[in-house]
Amino acid sequence: SDARLMLALESSCDETASAIIERDLTVRSNVVASQAELHEKYGGVVPEIASRAHVTNLLPVVQEAVTQAGITLKDIDLIAVVTRPGLVGSLLVGLTAAKTFAATLNVPLIAVDHVQAHLYACRIAAKRDLFPAIGLVVSGGHTNLYLCKSATEYELIGSTIDDAAGEAFDKVAKILKLPYPGGPHIERVAADGNPSAFKFVRTFIKEDRLDFSFSGLKTAVLYQAEGTPGAVKQPPPLDEQRINDLAASFQEAVVDVLVGKCKQALEQYQLQTLLIGGGVAANGRFRSALEEAAQENNFDLHISPREFCTDNAGMAAIAWEHYERGELADLKIDVTPGLVR
Ligand code: KG4
Ligand code: ZN
Repeated sequence: SDARLMLALESSCDETASAIIERDLTVRSNVVASQAELHEKYGGVVPEIASRAHVTNLLPVVQEAVTQAGITLKDIDLIAVVTRPGLVGSLLVGLTAAKTFAATLNVPLIAVDHVQAHLYACRIAAKRDLFPAIGLVVSGGHTNLYLCKSATEYELIGSTIDDAAGEAFDKVAKILKLPYPGGPHIERVAADGNPSAFKFVRTFIKEDRLDFSFSGLKTAVLYQAEGTPGAVKQPPPLDEQRINDLAASFQEAVVDVLVGKCKQALEQYQLQTLLIGGGVAANGRFRSALEEAAQENNFDLHISPREFCTDNAGMAAIAWEHYERGELADLKIDVTPGLVR
């Protein structure tokens, strides 16, 4: 058919987002209302607060996306909505709004997987086919390695057995008394720290398995910051230099493991293309380490552009791929909070 303009909604966690995307993947507008301030004092996302904020913010965000794109709702040919994975209450707000738009505008509805959308952000930027590839999604909720067989077929080949990488950044930031969300703050103070001041664990790095674990690393930072439980000897005071050094050494350990597992996955599956998405992909040290690895090992690297790294609705452009394949959702669909394999 001749569908041309898509309205996309994303409300899976604590970002309320809407975008207008053309069929050639041009993102005409990409509006995000962050709830970070509401959750900051809790040091993490509080699900009920997130759901309520989506109810408040969603329609103004859609209105803004439509206005910025210079269109009206009547111009919309297709509705895309993230239905998995995420917080159940948050997802339900977006899905209910999306169904209402689809029913009242009488246009098709497409269900989008948030994690796949994070990887598809690379495809939007590249403006050419990138599949098959290995994909790594590193965010506050996920550290997942995928075998991306095509634009719509993703097989999970590795994931974290405890904390996600972004979650580890956020928890370590809390330990170092930095604001939430912690990733950007760790990166900022790490710039003035010594990445080899502390020799932290690189869990699973020498093993073939493609899984991650960051909980031991987080605890190691905690012990360096606050002392080991029961130990007589107290650590030095947590002054600025020590905070910077702990942040830099922690960041280096995470980056080493993430880059190491990507290289192993490329090798194991004999692929030459690597896609990186999710909030942690905004990290400058991670990006430069990936670029070095790509040069050294001669693979084709695609990191999600910064505006598509943290949660947004522009990356829901993957819905056009589903549309081309006739994969439409019916108005009875429900959300799926858990990770889909
Ligand atoms: O993709 P995202 O917006 O939301 C989830 O789906 O989780 O990712 C948010 C996560 C947070 O944990 C945040 O601390 C982390 O991405 N993050 C960063 C940076 N910017 C955001 N981590 C490290 N360095 C950054 N510059
Ligand atoms: Zn995300």
